[in-house]
Amino acid sequence: MSNLVAYFSHPDPFNPEGDGGSEPPSGYVQRDGSIVGTVQAMAEVIKKLTDASSYRIQTKKVYPSYFRILEQITKGEKQRGDRPELEEPIPDLSSVENVFLGYPMWWMDAPMAVYSFLEKADLSGKELYLFVAQSDYGIADTLQTITKAAKGAKVNQTPLVASCYLTLTQLQQEVATWLYKVSSK
Ligand SMILES: Cc1cc2nc3c(=O)[nH]c(=O)nc-3n(C[C@H](O)[C@H](O)[C@H](O)COP(=O)(O)O)c2cc1C
Repeated sequence: MSNLVAYFSHPDPFNPEGDGGSEPPSGYVQRDGSIVGTVQAMAEVIKKLTDASSYRIQTKKVYPSYFRILEQITKGEKQRGDRPELEEPIPDLSSVENVFLGYPMWWMDAPMAVYSFLEKADLSGKELYLFVAQSDYGIADTLQTITKAAKGAKVNQTPLVASCYLTLTQLQQEVATWLYKVSSK
């Protein structure tokens, strides 16, 4: 039996660590200058500590980086309840026991692509652990909406809700602490 980390992350190369303005920070600048998204950074810790394989939820459509345009597109998707088509097929889940599902909050919901994933992946009988990045508005009712979409999965009721205002080191520590907590129950 094995572990899978499935996650959606859309770092903003123009505003990775926040500029103190109205746009929330999204991602971190790494030592080599590359940008890692907040959820992506969390996924990497989980992958390492649980020896998991990973699947990045990406869509055929490419989302823009510039916040104001992304805002218009993603608000429209949420209003319509779109299910954007996924870029990669769902991996073979037959031997997977634990699925760690990560997403950023987008307009008090998960990105619609996360529901595309949940409606395609057969998670029945699997343990589902949620880890979420947000700019301090919380996870709204996504624990419920995801539980509904992940038919037959056993959804752990202690999601990790991390702030995108943490430093990368603080974030990594929060993930490790949460993993220890959920795995020792
Ligand atoms: C389009 C969009 C909508 C967002 N909506 C919310 C929100 O409703 N609540 C919240 O707390 N943060 C919101 N945020 C902030 C993100 O959740 C936060 O920046 C997160 O760390 C992004 O993760 P990523 O870098 O892995 O993509 C939003 C960000 C974007 C880009």
